[in-house]
Amino acid sequence: MTIQRIFFAVAGLSAVIVGTLSMTGCGSSEASSSSSGPTITPQQFADGVHAVMMADRTVYATHVVTNLKKQESVVTADEYWQDSDDAIPLPAQMFRMGAELVDENKEAGFTYALRSSWPLNEQHQAKTDLEKKALQYIVENPGDNFYGEEVLGDTNYFVAVYPDRAVAEACWTCHNDHPNRGDDYPEFEKDDVMGGVLVRIPLP
Ligand code: HEC
Repeated sequence: MTIQRIFFAVAGLSAVIVGTLSMTGCGSSEASSSSSGPTITPQQFADGVHAVMMADRTVYATHVVTNLKKQESVVTADEYWQDSDDAIPLPAQMFRMGAELVDENKEAGFTYALRSSWPLNEQHQAKTDLEKKALQYIVENPGDNFYGEEVLGDTNYFVAVYPDRAVAEACWTCHNDHPNRGDDYPEFEKDDVMGGVLVRIPLP
């Protein structure tokens, strides 16, 4: 499957597609006149889908979760939302449930997930050596993204990992006080890299 096909298979990303494709088309008349049309690199694809994921997460956290708090609504974001009549999922849970649906969708052509060296949910542990290396890299180089490739089975994958930082007080207070924290759990502070957002794309 080509990167273009993967791109078109991802519903709801048309704005990113237009932006990215036209950018790539610019300045390379040879590439845009080839029969396969303009191309985007795996990194451009990963950066694009990551931008959409983070925008959705921020909008949910700000305009849904925080807004309900401001309105003093009985409805709150709660980890145990399934056991309650007036609770909605936490932003990280929304993110994971979306990732699980994309995982099941064979047409999507890529997968994504939250990862951390100190996960509250075991599912977010690094699964491969490259993932471990990526998490270490984004913690040691705050602000940098990690890009790499790894072979799993007989497929070569492009892997991008973006830092997920403690941008609001709620991030570190909730995580630092959480009953799931292990013995080696850090005391997170403002701007710390708490984990990463992983995007994995199979290469042709
Ligand atoms: C009210 C509590 C709460 C708040 C606020 C919160 N988180 Fe979380 N976070 C959780 C829980 C619970 C999980 C595990 C969710 C799941 O089951 O998928 C999680 C998962 C994560 C993960 C994946 C690794 C892990 O620990 O499982 C990262 C990274 C993360 N959160 C970062 C953040 C950041 C950054 C913020 C602020 C923007 C934030 N969290 C705000 C409770 C919270």
